[in-house]
Amino acid sequence: MPGGETVTSSSVVTAAAVAATAVGLLSASRLVRRWRRSRHLSALRSRLQAAYREAKTRFGEHINEEVRRQQLTDSEKSEILSLSTGELLSRLRAKSLDPARVLLAYQARAYEVDRDLNCVIEFLQPDLAEVNLDGPLAGLPISIKESMAVKGKYSCFGLAAFAEKPLPTEDCSTVKILRALGGVPFVRTSVPQTMMSVLSHNPIEGAVKHPTAENRSPGGSSSGEAALIAAGGSPLGLGSDIGGSIRLPAAWCGIAGFKPTSGRLSRQGQRSVSVQKLVPASWGPMGPDVASLATFMKAFCNSELHDQIDPGVPPLGFNETIYVESRPLRIGFYLYDHQFQAVPSAERAVKETVDRLASRGHTMVPWDPPIRRLNLMETYLRAVTCDGAGILDDALNGDRVSYAVKLGLHAIQVPWPGRWVRQRWCRLTGDSETEEWLRSSVPMPNVLSMWYFNQEVTSLREEFTHRWREDKLDAIICPALGCPAVDLEPKSPFNGCLSYLVLYNLFNFPAGSVPVTRVTASDVAAMSNYPLAARMQAGSEGLPVSVQCAALPWRDEACLSLMREVEAAWRDK
Ligand SMILES: *[C@@H]1O[C@H](CO)[C@@H](O)[C@H](O)[C@H]1NC(C)=O
Repeated sequence: MPGGETVTSSSVVTAAAVAATAVGLLSASRLVRRWRRSRHLSALRSRLQAAYREAKTRFGEHINEEVRRQQLTDSEKSEILSLSTGELLSRLRAKSLDPARVLLAYQARAYEVDRDLNCVIEFLQPDLAEVNLDGPLAGLPISIKESMAVKGKYSCFGLAAFAEKPLPTEDCSTVKILRALGGVPFVRTSVPQTMMSVLSHNPIEGAVKHPTAENRSPGGSSSGEAALIAAGGSPLGLGSDIGGSIRLPAAWCGIAGFKPTSGRLSRQGQRSVSVQKLVPASWGPMGPDVASLATFMKAFCNSELHDQIDPGVPPLGFNETIYVESRPLRIGFYLYDHQFQAVPSAERAVKETVDRLASRGHTMVPWDPPIRRLNLMETYLRAVTCDGAGILDDALNGDRVSYAVKLGLHAIQVPWPGRWVRQRWCRLTGDSETEEWLRSSVPMPNVLSMWYFNQEVTSLREEFTHRWREDKLDAIICPALGCPAVDLEPKSPFNGCLSYLVLYNLFNFPAGSVPVTRVTASDVAAMSNYPLAARMQAGSEGLPVSVQCAALPWRDEACLSLMREVEAAWRDK
């Protein structure tokens, strides 16, 4: 018997040794695979970087030569660039300006702006013969975000692995319709890695810089658009917004941005990393003023091609009557959304806007948004990461990860036991944002849970809409977000300040941000009660501050109309 025991224990030892060796070999081979993958991705990234760099250099030479050849003088160029988008458009329509010279002036300007702000991925070489110059946009140069697929061009969002995806064999519906309307897509602009970030950095193109504040972020994910337009390098641009990605960079850079009701505009062929359907994605115009946004919406919604290409969009023409309407409106407003205390400059922007609108004859109704029982950021994050953020993880597998996605991603990537411990630790240290990420990025256990979750969001939305109807509101005004531009590379999480924006993604209301004021010294001084924001906001004096306008779904014209009124209220007084 003792001999038998020895045999048993020695075979246990052998088995354990074999198992350990197997595990060791397996993890070693996994490490090797991972190392190979990251080397492969590095090579892809370098190749893309070199190609983009070379293309830009060639474009620079081409533009300089064209400016000489076509004798575009500095004064003619500044004259073209000094026109508002509306004036530019009416001269193009009247044929008193040559679209080729307008394009050249903007190409030259965009090239200069890009050298300072790094906001362009690539310059297109538009052929005006392919553009319907008799269309309502009459040859207006238009910048487009990287997600608007263009035939034969990469859409990588800073992800090296995406360079291996098949290139689009045709333009997305946006670009096709744009050309038919007379728009001239002329540059493609940068986004943060994955586009699931409101910062502006990715490992392929680097960081987009803020147009006026060197160490601040222009915001994201339509980073390049906002920076380029704010610096005068484009008269109109197209961004996308699934969690504030148009309204936020527009607000941080001091331009106007509009997120239409999702579904109002065709998205056929646009690219993104996310495929979830709980929070509907939207795209829309960004521009120096509200009129430019309305011009774009009108042209697009009234396009016959729009309906032909995508019968999935509702047959709703742009209702000009609602947009230009000057009857007194009943406007709800709030300073606090029960989620995040906005900084003093954001509150002041709303208060002063409310006073100005009241003195223009509108009825201003203090409104308490019925979302008190909702943890908005958690619900939002849960909705967009209900796959446990698997798709994000996949896209970034083996790649260099930008700081723009690290804060949230690192929380998601923690495996279960560590997640539990980390969550408790965050609660102890008061890091409620990371805790929120950890809590909300757990994959939905089954389809039924997902349906229940969806049902819950739907009923919250119904309650919100019901209250809005009861109070007979035409539209709403609130902070655009809880704080002005954060650091280019923030050290602490700041997602909380986005609650004002993501609400209107979760509920799919049209919403836009309009720049109204700038942070003052007394705004900064009043910040002593705001521990997190105060750290972020030291030195924020002079940064642009916007308010947000929103309307009921499909009332995009009513939202734009209020945005126009807000702009006028600040301009005309
Ligand atoms: C535009 O809106 C007005 C006011 O709501 C309405 O009376 C009119 O019928 C609408 N026009 C179109 C073409 O839908």
